[in-house]
Amino acid sequence: MTGYDFPQGFVWGTATAAYQIEGAVHADGRGESIWDRFSHTPGKTLNGDNGDVACDHYHRWPEDIALMADLGIQAYRFSVAWPRILPSGRGKINQAGIDFYSRLVDRLLEHGITPFLTLYHWDLPQVLQDSGGWPARDTAQAFAEYAGIVGRALGDRVKHWMTINEPWCVSILSHYMGEHAPGLQNPPLALAAAHHTLLGHGWAVQELRREAPACEVGIVLNYTASVPASDSAADQAAARRYDGFFNRWFSDPVAGLGYPADMVANYSAAGFLPDGMNFVQPGDMATIATPTDFLGANYYTREVIAAGETDWDWQLVTLDTERTAIGWEIYPQGFYELLLRLYSHYRFPKIYVTENGASYAEGPDSAGRVRDERRVRYLRQHFGAAQRAISAGVPLGGYFVWSLLDNFEWAKGYNDRFGLVHVNYETQQRTPKDSFAFFKQVIAENAVEE
Ligand code: FCB
Repeated sequence: MTGYDFPQGFVWGTATAAYQIEGAVHADGRGESIWDRFSHTPGKTLNGDNGDVACDHYHRWPEDIALMADLGIQAYRFSVAWPRILPSGRGKINQAGIDFYSRLVDRLLEHGITPFLTLYHWDLPQVLQDSGGWPARDTAQAFAEYAGIVGRALGDRVKHWMTINEPWCVSILSHYMGEHAPGLQNPPLALAAAHHTLLGHGWAVQELRREAPACEVGIVLNYTASVPASDSAADQAAARRYDGFFNRWFSDPVAGLGYPADMVANYSAAGFLPDGMNFVQPGDMATIATPTDFLGANYYTREVIAAGETDWDWQLVTLDTERTAIGWEIYPQGFYELLLRLYSHYRFPKIYVTENGASYAEGPDSAGRVRDERRVRYLRQHFGAAQRAISAGVPLGGYFVWSLLDNFEWAKGYNDRFGLVHVNYETQQRTPKDSFAFFKQVIAENAVEE
């Protein structure tokens, strides 16, 4: 073999999320989510796109599982739509919602594909938003109840659970930057939301331990490499702040280190904590640090950071470097460094790459072939970085490519395509891309040539 081998038993998979692929938003008693509301609000998503139909996976899941089987993945990461299970957010269970995921799980298992289930990939029931959303502590409690319900229903067959996908996006991107549902621009609320996503995670881990014993449980955090624009002390300090804002604010508490003190000071100076850290109640930090079995890490890109106008902020610098279609720089070195840091600094016992992938627009050519060699190159480089991290001692258990299918890319609508499989949104026809064939070979050989 001329490539780099991965360890025996390494888990290869693909990832998706409910609202991005399912469609069928009114089927079988599903309630409204904040993404239904947000995407139907004029001006919030590119071209006014929404997930009403998406990939129609809710009806086409047998065909999609057949594609997974053809690809040869050992595991599939998907999310459960909270409003399908609990249309009112809490209380009355909608059995039809549970049945949908139960059938999906059974079919995956029939094909020898291990389900990796994410409980929250952003589709909060709208009723819970109306009663305060993630800035309200009660939402964390509602999330734990929901976790217990799904754990009870599927824990006999689903052995790998992820609580929250990307708390940074749930809180900062959605409540401070206003780019995702519910579209707020309120820093104090964003920091309260961040705390309650982490708290909800901790409580959910405890619920899952009760309701679904003998399962692996973890959280999924997103990471961006934060690289100073120059060697100057000011740029380096700014990059450290951006790292605090994006990465450390979430990783440190989960790893039991508490909120990073430098960032508490920065947020106070910025006026983001008018009432201090009063959302933290006694016992919360221990709950957030409830031991998990693994960390899920999502990685796509880096940011280059220069000093800002004050000593608590920063500026993003755009270099003239190679980017994917969504505008994210290709930076596999940051991936390698991240994996090393997650192990050597935080000592997470096991890590899964729960998302990594690339947006490129290629569709079928006249012969019906999708020649997405840039996606192949991106994946090859990042697989190689992961392999080197494993060789350096990082306990990486598996790798999920984002995404199986082209899908609804949130505020970017259907414009950005991350799939290994092309989706024609007029006909719902699926066409495996060249990257699908490439990934199939990597899985079969459990090795990659970098
Ligand atoms: C991540 C999300 C995922 C997808 C990718 C491109 O932030 O978790 O749903 O949108 O980015």
